[in-house]
Amino acid sequence: MGYTVFSRFYDAAMRSYSWCSRFLPGILNPSGVPSGGGTLLELGCGTGRVLELLSNDFSSLHGIDISPEMLEIAGKRLPEAELHLLDMRSFTLGQQFSAVICVFDTINHLTSFEEWKKTFRTARAHLIPGGIFLLDINTPRRLQRLSLLPPFLTEMEGGGLVLMDIQEVSSNDFHFDVQIFESLGEELFRRHREVIHEHTVDPERVFAELKNLFTSATVYDEDFNLAEGARQFAESSNGRMFFVCCN
Ligand SMILES: C[S@@+](CC[C@H](N)C(=O)[O-])C[C@H]1O[C@@H](n2cnc3c(N)ncnc32)[C@H](O)[C@@H]1O
Repeated sequence: MGYTVFSRFYDAAMRSYSWCSRFLPGILNPSGVPSGGGTLLELGCGTGRVLELLSNDFSSLHGIDISPEMLEIAGKRLPEAELHLLDMRSFTLGQQFSAVICVFDTINHLTSFEEWKKTFRTARAHLIPGGIFLLDINTPRRLQRLSLLPPFLTEMEGGGLVLMDIQEVSSNDFHFDVQIFESLGEELFRRHREVIHEHTVDPERVFAELKNLFTSATVYDEDFNLAEGARQFAESSNGRMFFVCCN
């Protein structure tokens, strides 16, 4: 899955969560999740950054992830959270939640739309009636745009560099070629490399599937403006898109 080595550097490399901290807490409460009282499940919770961000808004935090290395870091960050080593495509926790979220391109890690749809059905099965499923996707246009740019270079907290090169493999499949230069001091670096595969799907197909599965579904652009109507929907597909679905 591509996080065996990257997990150790993930938090230092992903320094800013401003992409979601501005609106994630705000969206879940007005959507009907009782303020401070609801239960939250994150699919692909990684090192627990998003769960931590939402920890004041929910009475209990739950996360699943397929990477034991990422989960271990999440466990240290959030000792109070219930974390499970599970595959989001098919799992049963025997519990239903006020909100289930799957964010920061996590769904794009699944390599076919069949697997995405399976995950949507599994998410719904874990929601209380009226519960919220929040999903974001890296759209085909966003990934194509990123693949045309030169590699991104990020300085890690505490030293070292991350070089991320996004490469188009086919119109719906991309590789995030991640090279990590771990600082060993005195201008010496150890190089690590991991390739993360991301699959993307036409957002119209995603929206149609979610509308079919849930009582309601709403789309937002990456600045969290409502993408109502064909023109706004098309414009918002240039960036990351958010879907808020009510069970
Ligand atoms: C880009 S990271 C995002 C982590 C976290 N949501 C965040 O925002 O920091 C994607 C995460 O999805 C996890 N993942 C990928 N495929 C998965 C699967 N089939 N089931 C559960 N987790 C998965 C990876 O291990 C990784 O931790």
